[in-house]
Amino acid sequence: MGSRKIIWLDVTDSTNAAALTAGEQGAAPGTVVVADSQTDGRGRLNRSWLSPPGMGLYFSVVLRPALAVEDLPKITLAAGLAVSKAVEAEYDVSPQIKWPNDLLLGERKFGGILTETGSLQTIPSGQHPLVVVGVGLNLFPPEGGFPPELKERATSLSLHADRKIARELLIEACVKAIEEMLQRLEADDFPAILSEWMQRDATKDRILNWITPMGKEVTGVSLGPGPDGLLHIRDAEGAVHAVLSGDVSLVGKIPERQP
Ligand code: BTN
Repeated sequence: MGSRKIIWLDVTDSTNAAALTAGEQGAAPGTVVVADSQTDGRGRLNRSWLSPPGMGLYFSVVLRPALAVEDLPKITLAAGLAVSKAVEAEYDVSPQIKWPNDLLLGERKFGGILTETGSLQTIPSGQHPLVVVGVGLNLFPPEGGFPPELKERATSLSLHADRKIARELLIEACVKAIEEMLQRLEADDFPAILSEWMQRDATKDRILNWITPMGKEVTGVSLGPGPDGLLHIRDAEGAVHAVLSGDVSLVGKIPERQP
């Protein structure tokens, strides 16, 4: 796999944690940490990411993007698009994305992206922030099936792919796609990235339920991400909410108009 540094681990708590440590200790951008399993795989909103051996791909990429701190949230959208395109190119499937980071096949989640940063307070001048993009993909169904809480919502790439899954090739394809997407972000190409992203938007014209970080519930129609990457939702009163974080779930389709 060329000259890229790949740190392969049998087991670790979280490849994101390991990649952040590696980055803080000077690992070069593009370094990848891969684990066969994670004991504390982490997801968005402090959730855990099921990471048993043999079932999935768990890896994290160390990056030092030449981006302003306020632009860092765009990396999650860009990485989701990059991984979707890489998976599509390798396995002839067309993943959709549910804002901000859920990768879906047949309306079920098979992957997720978790972007984390090193300390943003202590970036020495002339250096770029440390960012880790973590990718988790369900490749095969777990023995005995997904646990009850995921059963209705999760799927695995092998159930949709047109050929046998080659882990190493898939990692390389995803990392290359993430790096290329980052270069586009650095070159101010976010509007074009966003319009590609919107072709895969699983929430387009769907009714969403958003639980705000304060625990308030907002229901409305998804307008997709705005130019800042935040998800916009229009509620029944016509007010538009910009979602920076919190939990978003699909609750239905907009009823078709009667002729
Ligand atoms: C999500 O959908 O909430 C994001 C899940 C991200 C999981 C991956 S697995 C590899 C990397 N290491 C982690 O601890 N998390 C990410």
